Amino acid sequence: MSTKIGIIGAGGMLRFHHDGFMAANAEVIAVADVNPEAAARAAAKNGIAKSFGSPQEMFTACPELDAVSIITPNKFHAPLAIAALQAGKHVFCEKPPALHADEVREMIAAEKASGKLLMFNFNNRARPESYAMQEYIRAGEVGTILAAQAKWIRRTGIPGFGGWFTDKSLAGGGSLIDLLHMLDLATYFMGCPQPAHVLARTFDNFITNPAFKGPWGLADGNGPTDVENAAHGMITFTGGQVLSFQISWAEMVKGEEVSVTFQGTKAGGAVRRMFGIDGMDETAVDSCELYTQENGRSVNRNIIVPKDESMGRIRSAMNFIRSVEGTEVPLNTPAQALALMQIIDATYTSARTGEPVAIAQA
Ligand SMILES: NC(=O)c1ccc[n+]([C@@H]2O[C@H](COP(=O)([O-])OP(=O)(O)OC[C@H]3O[C@@H](n4cnc5c(N)ncnc54)[C@H](O)[C@@H]3O)[C@@H](O)[C@H]2O)c1
Repeated sequence: MSTKIGIIGAGGMLRFHHDGFMAANAEVIAVADVNPEAAARAAAKNGIAKSFGSPQEMFTACPELDAVSIITPNKFHAPLAIAALQAGKHVFCEKPPALHADEVREMIAAEKASGKLLMFNFNNRARPESYAMQEYIRAGEVGTILAAQAKWIRRTGIPGFGGWFTDKSLAGGGSLIDLLHMLDLATYFMGCPQPAHVLARTFDNFITNPAFKGPWGLADGNGPTDVENAAHGMITFTGGQVLSFQISWAEMVKGEEVSVTFQGTKAGGAVRRMFGIDGMDETAVDSCELYTQENGRSVNRNIIVPKDESMGRIRSAMNFIRSVEGTEVPLNTPAQALALMQIIDATYTSARTGEPVAIAQA
């Protein structure tokens, strides 16, 4: 029997979840949104039978649901995930996992009590480049990754002013918490080590400047614009590894880059997307490389993988369904989500205090 799933949040990301669930032969039977027209529109467009004006209505009307995906503004991730787990549903929750690590702890407690699966959409782990790189790492060809650098940098990419993305109470923060993917991917490649300390700075110098707005036509709202436009920092891990990061919506860089580079004891490597003039146009360049010393020479291996413009979003949703059905291993765990949120909390604290911040050990 196929997994029956309901979607909560009928915004921009719905289509990737929907397409991934369909590709994994799940049944998307309902969609709920606090905006009932948005839910009805998404249902009509994607051939979903039922739509509701609240998640609670959906839970009551559709007891047959096995799982839900949560695609709402960040503030609602934790309460909705906890409500769904308490209703006995598996949960696939968008990133960031929550607003703070404490909320993730509450989600984990609900997951343990429910016996259901809780996964997050760290879709960059599901990119063809990431699958390929993990094969080399797991085969021992990279050795221990001693150091890594995570970047998601934009020159003019603020997602509108005064909408939920720039409202700290709804989003939890700005570029750092929104574009956390490369931090996650770097720690994934490093073997998810235990973070020890973070030293970081955040900047909000462009956060109200219209010249730095993103090109996606997002409408401005009436809410506050009280988050950072850039974050820079360094994380140390208990095993001695180090990870530096640069994550921005707006800063004076040449163009948009999304990358993890790393230096291992046997090989270095990089997974990189350089966006083109118009985003994912023909001038965009993806690369997946390993750097080794062989026979006294420096060798660069270029790993060729299929192009995936969705950046793993469809494959990630497929992995959730297959994890529920027991045919694949989950690409991420709640404990890994907690460690990532601890890094994000510590980054904001360090930026505020100007001091290095120690991370509580699990
Ligand atoms: N993984 C990725 O690549 C990726 C990309 C973009 C966004 N996201 C994440 O997806 C989530 C949603 O982003 P989006 O761009 O789709 O946002 P969006 O603003 O386009 O859509 C959000 C929808 O959620 C609805 N909503 C708000 N509160 C709700 C509630 N309590 N219950 C039910 N519905 C509610 C809104 O009415 C809206 O229709 C965010 O957490 C964001 O970080 C992830």
